[in-house]
Amino acid sequence: MADKKIRDFYTTRRKILKGMLGAAGAGALGCMLVPFGTIKAPSGKKGRQKIAKGDRLVYAVGPNAGKEIKVSDLAINKGTLAFPKGKEEHNNLILLFRAKESEFQKPTKINYTVDGFCAYSAICTHMGCTVEWYPEKQFSFDFPHLFCPCHQSVFDVFHGAKVLAGPAPRPLPQLPLMISGGVIAAAGDFDGPIGPQPGGK
Ligand code: FES
Repeated sequence: MADKKIRDFYTTRRKILKGMLGAAGAGALGCMLVPFGTIKAPSGKKGRQKIAKGDRLVYAVGPNAGKEIKVSDLAINKGTLAFPKGKEEHNNLILLFRAKESEFQKPTKINYTVDGFCAYSAICTHMGCTVEWYPEKQFSFDFPHLFCPCHQSVFDVFHGAKVLAGPAPRPLPQLPLMISGGVIAAAGDFDGPIGPQPGGK
């Protein structure tokens, strides 16, 4: 079933690219893809402040940017970009979402989730673009997933953010969560290295 979804995904993608080439020619294709690259991570910054147990999560974008994320803020199937409070730097960007607890399966670290909340690094392991939350059907994926718009990598949020499609070489690291005074907080740091690594691994 999953194999069929992945085949369908690539078929859809091929059709889109073919249509773009037919309409504008190969030379224009590069220009048309430029907007996808505009959210690429700033390069050259290696270090980051480690996330510690008890660091409260705040909204990274939107009108509530900087405000703490309360448990009551996010219903099932909602997601947002977040930062650990006081450590708002690109390599600490988090994709936080909420789902039914029964949906999470290994290799998701179930003990890293809390009350249906789950969080992964929002930095794609391919080339460092920001991944996006898709709670609805997109292409042939009819279940919630994370999508990287730069080169169309797809990550399975219910199975440890494993890679379902695209060039990303490995899953997104997961962040352990806890609840502190009604606010979502980290229970420690990510369980793996952030973003692309030397050698493309
Ligand atoms: S940077 Fe995400 S797929 Fe390339």
